[in-house]
Amino acid sequence: MHYFDYVADELHCEQVPVRRIAEEVGTPFYLYSHATLRRHFLAVQEAFPDTERLVCYSAKANTSQAILRLFADLGGGLDIVSGGELYRGLKAGFAPGRIVYSGVGKRVDEIDYALDSGILQFNVESFQELDLIDQRAAARNTIAPVAIRVNPDVDPKTHPYISTGLKKNKFGINHRDAPEAYRHADRLPHLEVVGIDCHIGSQITEVQPFRDALKSLMELIGELRGEGIDIRNLDIGGGLGITYGDEQPPDPGEYARTVMEVMAGSGLRLILEPGRVIVGNAGILVASVLYRKHSEDKEFVITDAGMNDLLRPSLYQAYHEIRPVRRRKRPEIRADVVGPICESGDFLAQDRQMPDLQPGELLAVMSAGAYGFCMSSNYCSRPRVPEVMVKDDQFHVIRQRERVADLIRGESLPPFVK
Ligand code: LLP
Repeated sequence: MHYFDYVADELHCEQVPVRRIAEEVGTPFYLYSHATLRRHFLAVQEAFPDTERLVCYSAKANTSQAILRLFADLGGGLDIVSGGELYRGLKAGFAPGRIVYSGVGKRVDEIDYALDSGILQFNVESFQELDLIDQRAAARNTIAPVAIRVNPDVDPKTHPYISTGLKKNKFGINHRDAPEAYRHADRLPHLEVVGIDCHIGSQITEVQPFRDALKSLMELIGELRGEGIDIRNLDIGGGLGITYGDEQPPDPGEYARTVMEVMAGSGLRLILEPGRVIVGNAGILVASVLYRKHSEDKEFVITDAGMNDLLRPSLYQAYHEIRPVRRRKRPEIRADVVGPICESGDFLAQDRQMPDLQPGELLAVMSAGAYGFCMSSNYCSRPRVPEVMVKDDQFHVIRQRERVADLIRGESLPPFVK
C-alpha cells in the first residue's frame, strides 16, 4: 500500500503531481511519500500488541535525515552498521538508548564512538570482536551491553547476495559455537550480556524461514538460561520482503503473529530491524526519457537515470516496475530501459513489456525507497540526484542535487604533480 496513484492519468504522490516536482527540481530525483513512510512504520510497530518491543528501523535502507527524523519522532529506534550511521542517527534525534549496532567489521573508532554514545546493544559477530569491545569498555571504565548475532543456518530463499543466515555467509557466530561465545562474553568483566540477535536475509517473502530461525534462537535461549546466562532482548533483525512485481510477502500482521507465537511466554523484549518493508514502497525514482534507439532486434529506452542512481537492477537483477508519469492509450513495446553509464550492465529494466515511452517523457521507477539513493554513487562523475518528500499537497527538497563542483570536493594536487 502506498500513495503513488494516477489522478486523471497524471501520476501523483499524495496530492502533488509528480510532473510539477520534476519541473521544479529537474530529473532524475527520488521522491518519498510522508504518509506512506508513516503508515508503514506504524504498521510494523502496531503489529505486536501486548508485546514489549522496539522497532529499530534499519538505517542502511535509507539514511536521509528527514526520513530518520520522522521515525525518531514516531518513537522508533535505529539499527546501524557503521559509525557514519550512528552519526546520522544521533543527528536525526534518535535516543542512543534506542540504537543497536550490527556488523561483522566494526572498527575500534566506531566501537569507541558507540560506547561513548551509550547505545542500547552491540550485536557482536565474532569472538575477537567480543574481546575488543571488552578492552575498549575497560579503557573507559564502563560496561558494554552485548548480544551475540547467531547464524542459525536457515535458508531465507532470497537472492544470494542478500541472504545472511546460511553457515557459508560471513555473518554472525554459528549456532553450534554460540553457547561458547556466550560463556566467553559472560566471563569478560566489561561486557554485560543483554540479548540475542539474528538477521537471516532480506526481501524474504515467506514466514517459514523466520519461524525456523526464531525457533532455533528460542532453543538457544533456553539452554543459556539453564546455565544462568540471562537473555533479555530478542533481536530478530529485518528482512521482511515487499511487492516489487508479483511477490506476495506476508504482511506485517502475519509476520508478527508468527513471531509472537514462537516467543510466547518467554518474557523477552522484542527488537525488530525492518528496513525495506518500511521505506521500499514509499519512494520512487523519477527520470526522463532522453532517446529511443532500435538496434538489431532490440528496442532501447535511454533515460537520464542510470546504475549509479539506482544500482539494484544491475547488481541483483532486481525488478522495479516502470510507469509513465502521464498515462495515455498507446502501443506497447518490449524494451531495455538503460542509463547513460558506459557499461552494458547499466539498466533499469531488461526485456520489459511497457508503454511506448517517447523522448522528453517522464517515467517513474517504482519501489525505489529502499536501497536506492543510499546505494547511489558518483560513478562516471554524475552528481547524486536530489531527494524530495511530499506531505499532502506540499513538497520539500530534503537533499539538494549535487553540483559538479561537489565532485572534486576534498581532492588536492600533490606537490610532485605539476
Ligand atoms: N538488520 C541487519 C543486520 C541487516 O543486515 C539488514 C539488511 C537489515 C536489518 C534490514 O533488512 P531489510 O528489512 O531491509 O530486509 N542492498 C540490498 C539489501 C541488503 C540488505 C542488507 N542488510 C537490496 O537492495 O536488496
